[in-house]
Amino acid sequence: MQKLLVDEIYKSVRGVTPNTAASDGAEVTISGWIRTNRSNNNIGFISLNDGSCFNCCQVIYESNKIDNYTDITKLLTGCSIEVTGKLVMTPGAQQPFEINASSVVLLGSCDADYPLQKKRHSLEFLREIPHLRPRTNTFMAVFKVRSLVSQAIHEFFHDEGFTYIHTPLITGNDAEGAGETFTVTTRDDGKYEEDFFGKHACLTVSGQLHVEPFALAFGKVYTFGPTFRAENSNTAFHASEFWMIEPELAFADLKDDMACMEKMLKFVIKSVLDNAPDEMKFLNDFVCEKHDLIDKLTKVVNSDFRAITYTEAIDYLLKSGRDFEYPVEWGIDLKSEHERYICEQVVGGPTFLIDYPKEIKAFYMRVNDDGKTVAACDLLVPGVGELIGGSQREERCDVLVNKMQELGIPQEDLQWYLDLRRFGGVKHSGFGLGLERLLMYVTGVSNIRDVLPYARTPRNLKF
Ligand code: 4AD
Ligand code: MG
Repeated sequence: MQKLLVDEIYKSVRGVTPNTAASDGAEVTISGWIRTNRSNNNIGFISLNDGSCFNCCQVIYESNKIDNYTDITKLLTGCSIEVTGKLVMTPGAQQPFEINASSVVLLGSCDADYPLQKKRHSLEFLREIPHLRPRTNTFMAVFKVRSLVSQAIHEFFHDEGFTYIHTPLITGNDAEGAGETFTVTTRDDGKYEEDFFGKHACLTVSGQLHVEPFALAFGKVYTFGPTFRAENSNTAFHASEFWMIEPELAFADLKDDMACMEKMLKFVIKSVLDNAPDEMKFLNDFVCEKHDLIDKLTKVVNSDFRAITYTEAIDYLLKSGRDFEYPVEWGIDLKSEHERYICEQVVGGPTFLIDYPKEIKAFYMRVNDDGKTVAACDLLVPGVGELIGGSQREERCDVLVNKMQELGIPQEDLQWYLDLRRFGGVKHSGFGLGLERLLMYVTGVSNIRDVLPYARTPRNLKF
């Protein structure tokens, strides 16, 4: 008798990792949580999930032949049990194997008011119980994919020779200059000079400014961590705490930056399709409304992303004949409705939008020769809108200083950042990928609250 994970049995049965302990007729023990338990006269069936893989294991019992436990038919959904029995291969059946139980031990009983009963629950209902929803198929798939995407991102950058840098979460600056920060304080009187750090401190909105110095030492670096925005946007695409991947590449211009975005995205998507086939099939069939998730992602891996300029995008929008909620003219900051029209209706796939008006973008973006636009690039994807925001950085010290003056950004606060332009400065570029937006794209989930383990959004902080 050997303790096994359900995943080990599946891998053995599928020939991925053959394991004699998981062969036909072997005595095995598994532990998990009951999804369903139904019985008919003497014969019962338990669908058991141990979390090691998406699939459940079917346990069959004859209630009068079970040791250790007499009232097995009364075990409720949600109970945790340990089952010992004979592994039986069932080729051709819906499940490739089952366990004929000889012993079932109750590990943890489950009260009758357990909210996850055998019926489909709405995502809104499940959002109210973030501590229990990981036990449902949808969230088991989503959070496994979240883990695999994170690993694939590290693998990609590692393979490409990037160094992983941990940038601080507590900072003295507001990188994007949008003033949407959460203050970190130990006082309630707002006297920041007397506060913990002796000055105003906040949670980071982006690791970019802190990672750039490392790019000018290591060449290729990235940071991957939580970021915080006190942006009062109550949409399906904004969270107050989200994770961002921010690579920074020295000696690279905007084209190199875009090539990196495209290669990374294709690598990550391919990795998820290869490594989470069961989860992806479930998401395709039960979460994605049009059931074309796997098709769509496979196409993305095999396509070339199109790039169009902001000015061309404005032309498309003006010629669209659509009545957008927010009126279109050159110079506007594109809203989600515009971004989605461009990537969904005009291009029909991931779209690089480049060369935005400088007035609507951050101070550090490199001014183009036309003096009006900056070497910025957003990657837009159907269903989500902006997935990535990036740019070539302004490496010309005088141009950057002028820009900061125009915008009223105090030079003394960012002298360290300007130093990078004085001490061996080079052209460099980078971008920020929102992990949750990527997960929405990859899983087909339509609300950001459902790809975060514990979502933080305006007026919502559970536990
Ligand atoms: O476009 P953003 O604001 O860019 C930056 O922060 C740059 N410093 C990145 C860089 O060049 N290193 O944010 C980057 C991405 C967005 O494209 C979006 O995917 C995600 O972060 N994002 C959010 N995701 C969830 N909730 C929010 N409130 C988000 N704000 C931005
Ligand atoms: Mg952006």
